[in-house]
Amino acid sequence: MTCFYKERHPKKLAIADLGCSCGPNTLFVVFDLTETVDVLCKALNHESPEYIIFLNDLPGNDFNNIFKSLDCFKKKLTSNPLVDGIDHQYCCITGVPGSFYGRILPTSSLYFVHSSYSLHYTSQVPD
Ligand SMILES: C[S@@+](CC[C@H](N)C(=O)[O-])C[C@H]1O[C@@H](n2cnc3c(N)ncnc32)[C@H](O)[C@@H]1O
Repeated sequence: MTCFYKERHPKKLAIADLGCSCGPNTLFVVFDLTETVDVLCKALNHESPEYIIFLNDLPGNDFNNIFKSLDCFKKKLTSNPLVDGIDHQYCCITGVPGSFYGRILPTSSLYFVHSSYSLHYTSQVPD
């Protein structure tokens, strides 16, 4: 993510977490990714990009549980002492129900895709 940001300096950064689940770990990775970029922005004296976060899981996932924790998550993002002084732009977080074996997002809509402990569910080799 660091190399990518340094090369591209995107004003909008779309990230997907495939198989995000709905527990206490769900937003950890997203937090780490945005923190990494924000720390870089601070060092480079850039504005933080707009974040567009897609949280994907199967339709039975408890997305409501994630949505209920979003206010708290956004407060954590903006009150992070490591990025104190950074001007935070809009952060859009959305749930994307559906299997990642099929099309779940539009073409060329993502900069970064993360998936952890989900691919071992693979029932087929992805394209
Ligand atoms: C072990 S959990 C991992 C949760 C989280 N990524 C983590 O690392 O803590 C695996 C998640 O992958 C999801 N999953 C499994 N197959 C999937 C598929 N085909 N499409 C989307 N999500 C899937 C499951 O519903 C489950 O929430």
